Amino acid sequence: MKKVIIINGPNLNLLGKREPEIYGAQTFENYFDSLVEQYPQVSLSYFQSNHEGVLIDKLHEVGFDYDGVILNGGAYTHTSIAIADAIGAISTPVVEVHISNVHAREAFRHHSYFSEKCVGVIVGMGLKGYELGLQGLLDR
Ligand code: DQA
Repeated sequence: MKKVIIINGPNLNLLGKREPEIYGAQTFENYFDSLVEQYPQVSLSYFQSNHEGVLIDKLHEVGFDYDGVILNGGAYTHTSIAIADAIGAISTPVVEVHISNVHAREAFRHHSYFSEKCVGVIVGMGLKGYELGLQGLLDR
């Protein structure tokens, strides 16, 4: 069975409560449960942290063993060379996901340190982006 982990970064624990006009009204736990039901053939797990180093530790932990990582690094996407280096250091393919269309928002959200290290990038498709990322990983 393929092992894929979804890793969410800072403030994404507040999905459902946080700026619902941008990020929607569904909690991630609720969405994740439906994804698990939809993909019984995949061993799917979920991890969230608000801390840069903890996200790096998690990438190191899964990054030589899992079949895929779906990463929404939140604002660290736009700031963290350290997380970008971790993505480059591991052998597991990483898909970058953003719920909102970062290119239609503030200029500081237009640049990602992660994209060049990732096998693909999905932006602006809401929570559905995680499923699209999963599908992309499984089809590779
Ligand atoms: C986000 C976009 C980032 O710019 C922002 O800092 C987030 C969420 C998204 O999923 O749309 O926290 O990654």
